[in-house]
Amino acid sequence: MSYQNILTSTTNGITTITINRPSKLNALNKATIQELHEALKNANKSKATKVIILTGSGEKAFVAGADISEFADFDVENGGKLAAKGQKLLFDYIENLSTPVIAAVNGFALGGGLELAMACHFRIASTNAKMGLPEVSLGVIPGYGGTQRLPQLVGKGRAMEMVMTAGMIDANQALSYGLVNHVSTEEELIPLVEKIATKIMRNSSVAIKGAIKAVNANFKDGVNGYKTEIKQFGKCFGTEDFKEGTTAFLEKRKADFPGE
Ligand code: COA
Repeated sequence: MSYQNILTSTTNGITTITINRPSKLNALNKATIQELHEALKNANKSKATKVIILTGSGEKAFVAGADISEFADFDVENGGKLAAKGQKLLFDYIENLSTPVIAAVNGFALGGGLELAMACHFRIASTNAKMGLPEVSLGVIPGYGGTQRLPQLVGKGRAMEMVMTAGMIDANQALSYGLVNHVSTEEELIPLVEKIATKIMRNSSVAIKGAIKAVNANFKDGVNGYKTEIKQFGKCFGTEDFKEGTTAFLEKRKADFPGE
């Protein structure tokens, strides 16, 4: 499939999806959100993809937010629809994807850009990254999950301050907040993310899928995370990966997981 707003490539089990609107600092317009959804769906289905990396093209931005030019004249109804559709197609979709998704935050991650990074399973930033939720400076609130995921990641007080001030934090502050897991130079960002992706790929993809479900259950209304964990744990015992993982351990060799 050919895309207008994103680039995709798959090598050695890693699918890299690059948001490619550098002249607009990779702002998320409707078309980009739809293309990201398709690319993620295809990567998640593909046997060739074990880990997905999401990043932005150019040296300046991961994603500088939702495309302001697309919603500047929206009314109440359209505003609500914009948030609901985006959350369904992209933000909740990523969070619940069974393939691990890592955000390589290579510059500005503002508004919908930070919300996109936060929807990923974890984040790694380069030293030039700047993160924030500037929505209230535009007269709106974060609408792609930012009011929910930011407090989950950094705590309520820090999230409140970031949302209310609409300010940006740099990569080191994001690291100290736990918003990103590692910080690297710009040149080393993708190699570092790929190194971590390679470590992930050595493990059972079936078990990782169950672990994602169990961890996410902790943050879902009306869902008991412990019960989800018990269910997912039990399911692992019926998988080929479990047979291979335990057999390999007992035979003192590295596991070669079939992913089933
Ligand atoms: N939506 C639409 N266009 C955007 C955008 C967004 N969220 N962010 C940047 N752009 C566009 C600019 O309009 C500009 O386009 P133009 O050259 O056609 O005028 C281009 O990207 C470059 O941005 P510019 O503002 O000139 O770069 P800068 O280096 O001076 O400033 C930022 C960088 C990130 C500080 C600034 O672009 C900004 O504040 N962007 C909006 C961030 C935001 O509020 N995001 C939340 C949206 S809900």
